[in-house]
Parts: sequence; structure tokens; C-alpha cells
Amino acid sequence: LAALAENPALVFIGFMGAGKSTVARAAAQAAGLEAVDADELLELQLGTPIDVFFDEHGEEEFRKREAEMAGGLLEGAAGGAIALGGGAVLSDRVREALRRHIVVWLDVSAQDAWDRSRNGARPLARDRTAFDRLHAERLPLYESVATAVLPALERDTVATALPAVLALRDLPAGTRLIWATSASGEYPIYVGEGLLGSGYWPLRGRRFCVTDANVAPLYRDAVAPLAATIAVEPGEENKTLAAAERVWRSLATAGMTQDDHIVALGGGVVGDLAGFCAATYQRGVPLVQAPTTLVGQVDAAIGGKTGVDLPEAKNYVGAYHLPSAVLADTATLRTLPAQELAAGFVEVIKTGLLAGGALWERVKAIESLGDVDPGELTDIVFACARYKVDVCADDERDGGRRAVLNLGHTIGHAIEAASGYGRYRHGEAVGLGLLAALRLSGAPELRAEVEGLLHRHGLPVRLDAAIETDAVMSAAERDKKRDSEGHRFVLIDRPGRPHYGERVANGEVRVAIDELREAE
Ligand SMILES: NC(=O)c1ccc[n+]([C@@H]2O[C@H](COP(=O)([O-])OP(=O)(O)OC[C@H]3O[C@@H](n4cnc5c(N)ncnc54)[C@H](O)[C@@H]3O)[C@@H](O)[C@H]2O)c1
Repeated sequence: LAALAENPALVFIGFMGAGKSTVARAAAQAAGLEAVDADELLELQLGTPIDVFFDEHGEEEFRKREAEMAGGLLEGAAGGAIALGGGAVLSDRVREALRRHIVVWLDVSAQDAWDRSRNGARPLARDRTAFDRLHAERLPLYESVATAVLPALERDTVATALPAVLALRDLPAGTRLIWATSASGEYPIYVGEGLLGSGYWPLRGRRFCVTDANVAPLYRDAVAPLAATIAVEPGEENKTLAAAERVWRSLATAGMTQDDHIVALGGGVVGDLAGFCAATYQRGVPLVQAPTTLVGQVDAAIGGKTGVDLPEAKNYVGAYHLPSAVLADTATLRTLPAQELAAGFVEVIKTGLLAGGALWERVKAIESLGDVDPGELTDIVFACARYKVDVCADDERDGGRRAVLNLGHTIGHAIEAASGYGRYRHGEAVGLGLLAALRLSGAPELRAEVEGLLHRHGLPVRLDAAIETDAVMSAAERDKKRDSEGHRFVLIDRPGRPHYGERVANGEVRVAIDELREAE
């Protein structure tokens, strides 16, 4: 695969107040590049400050001049670091010219942007309502052109993320990066086609690969050289303490040390199990997540939750352990059985429901997964991963907002446990859990819409008659989100508007489970 065009520039984009000029200067200094500030150049050309020109000639004329200058600058740029004006991406010419560069979006919240911009001379930062609207309108534009997304950083933290950004120069074209930050650390998440086997590796040290027997023959060589490969039996039934013990002992036998790292190569089962082993082996060793399923790429490999199941309840023993890097190679989805891809799509549906807006529309627009080449899923995987990163940034340890990610999981996990982990794939059980959660949310139309989506992708919408409500209820009793006073659910009345920590009476939960078993 072709790498990015020769000698691309690092172009910093983002809303006003994101700190583009400062960060571009700091990055240029750290990487030994020349820094250019597009707004400064524009002011030189206009012969007047931007706010004065804006007020005298109006926005349309300003945008025209900005597009001419920024378009020309980007078309001719070779190397260097460029800070682009916040509105420059509105121009088709600029967006086209950005395609051959590494485009770093400094993502800033509307509130932070307002706090940083309102007292300055910026003509579009005078009215808060209009400012917020503009912020919301620009987000999809920034997202569509960004190669890398960084939280709007302070000067001294740029250096931490910069090597991961610069590595994009050597990665396959189309690779995108999210810089994830949360309380206990920060790490890069790369999403792209052909990442594994591209020669790039994010960590030094020997690699100890934990994988499963299906994935090992397919992708082990793509993450070589390996000091050892430990392949567990595939399937949720093997996400157990017994399997963890086998992995720990194999690592010890193979001589793994703290200077080495574990590579979790596989789906969410491998990611959770290998992650748990990485958290606990010698009290913690570094971990690279290389997820090869849709569930793994949009969800399981991100955020640091690791663990195994007990027969009594799912994910009951575990640890928080952030990966050092995530390599989500969407090309691996080509070998994923169709039913696994569909089951993974339930986590995409969940994320679409939680995020609402454009992402929900994109999720609904996928008619048939069979017609989509997995490479084309890169952008949707990237968008879902970004949503999860954003949620985990505020709440790594699940004390608040992170709970929204559990939408559909309370009943979903209970169905998995009640059926001995073998009857449904994780995603399939979560699909049923989503239907129950929407019933409890009192959102019949949205429930019908989601049922239609699940049905369209060949996913179950009815609970197997052999699985009794009582068994699901008692598994739900052990849900980790339950406290001494009862269940706490994530409910959602419309896309983009989840509420977490909602109490629901047992009787209502029972009705929602019973409803899943009613014949069509
Ligand atoms: N830690 C978290 O935050 C988190 C989030 C979501 C889900 N999870 C966990 O993830 C697990 C489910 O993950 P999953 O759906 O990926 O299941 P999985 O890991 O069992 O993988 C599904 C199947 O696909 C096979 N496979 C994997 N990649 C393949 C490929 N590229 N080509 C061919 N076959 C391939 C596997 O061998 C397995 O048989 C559950 O245990 C769930 O609890 C964890």
C-alpha cells in the first residue's frame, strides 16, 4: 500500500481556541520542522488584521481570500507544520489539498473554545448561541478530513503524542489515529487497512502474542517477530480464570519479563483475557491490542477494561489496564465470518444510538453488511472508537458517564450468563439487551426501528424459549451495575440522549425479558 504522499506537512486544524498556532509551533520545534501560521500569512496578504477585514468586507469575501491563500499554501507545502485558520476547511479546494498531508484535528469542546476565545478579537466569538451552533456545524467537517484526532492539548503534552502522529508518515495510506487520554494514561489508537504487517510497531521489546486458535494461523505472522505465541481455544466459554492461568504459566515458561510486552491478537475474548493477563502477570506488563473483530475494534480493545467470566456472572474478575497502543486493522475483518461481523455490528448500532446525530444516520444507512467491503468500514470504526475514547476520557473507572456504554449490556450479559455463554455471540445477546432496554425506556418506536435493523442484518430479535426468564433475572441480579438498592440501567428515549443510573423495578425488567420471548 502506498504511504502518504512524499513529504507531507503536519497540518493542524480545529475550532477557534483549540490552540492550533501554539501546538503547531511546539510540534515544529520538537520535530525539527518549520512552522507556518496561515492566519498570520493571511493578515500579511490582506494588509490588515482579520477581524477588521471581516467587519469591513464581510464573511464571504474573507472566506474567498482565506481559501485562495490556504489552498495555495497546502498545494505547495513540503514538510513543515502548518496551523490552519478554523474556517479554512469550509473550502473544497482546501479540503482537496489536505488529502496528501497529515491532518491533525485538535478537538476542543464548545465550552473550552468559548472560554478561550470570547475576550479576543475573533469576529465569530461574540454571541454564545451562534458560537455553539458553529461549533456543532464544523465538527463533522473536521472529522471528515482528520488523519489524527488529538484532544486540544497544552504545549508540553504535544511532545508525548507527536511520535505517534509522525508514525503516520510510514503507515498505509488511509490510516487514522485517535490519541486517547484518560486518568491513568494516554495511548494511540490506529485504525486502518493493512496496519498489521506494514512493518510498523509501536513498542520496543520482545512481543509475546496471546491469540486464539482461529486467529493464530491467519495473523500471527503479521505481528512477527514473536518471542512466543500462546493460542487459547476460541470462544466466550474460554474467557475463564483457567485460561488465564494457562496464559500466565506459558508466559513464565517462555521467560517473559517486564521489558517485554503482550500482543492481544484476536477478538474481544482474546483482548479481555490477554489484557487481564497483562494487568496481572508480574503485577503488570505493557500491552498492545491488535483487535481482529468488529467488537474488538469499536469497543473491547479501547478503554482498559480487562477480565474474565465466572460461571455465575460475566466479566466478574478483572482489572483496569490501559493498552500502550491499539492497532485496529480493518483488513482483518475480511476473514471474519459473516455472523461475527453482524454480531459486532450490534456494538456499532449501540454506539450510533448513544451518539445520535450523523453517526446514527450512517449506521442506519448500511443496508447490508454483505455488500460492504470491510475496508470501507474504516471510517465508521474510527467514529465509534472516537465516541468511546471521548466517554472514557472523562470517566476511566466507570464512576459516571462511562456507564452509558453499558446500554443493552445489563440484560445482554445476563442472557449470556444464563445460557452458559455458548448460545449467543456477545453482540447477539447485546442486541436482545438493547431491545429490552428500549422497552424499559418507554421508546416503542425506537425499539421497533432497532428491531428492524437487527432483523435486516440477520441478528436474533427473539430470545430462545429454552432460556427462562428466572435464569436471566437471577443473572441480572449479579450485574455489577446493581447496587444494594436494585438495578441501575442505561435508558435512552431518543438517539443521542442516554441516561445512566436509572432505577427500574424488578417487575418491569421481567416484562421486558418476557417480551423478548413472545412469538412473532
Ligand atoms: N473490555 C471491553 O470494554 C469490552 C467491550 C465490548 C466487548 N467486550 C468483550 O468482547 C467479547 C466479544 O468479542 P468478539 O465478539 O470479538 O468475540 P470473539 O473474541 O469470541 O471473536 C469471535 C470469533 O471470531 C474469531 N475471529 C476473530 N477474529 C477473526 C478474524 N479476523 N477472522 C476470522 N475469525 C476471527 C474468533 O476466533 C472467534 O471465534 C466478550 O467477551 C465481551 O465481553 C469487552
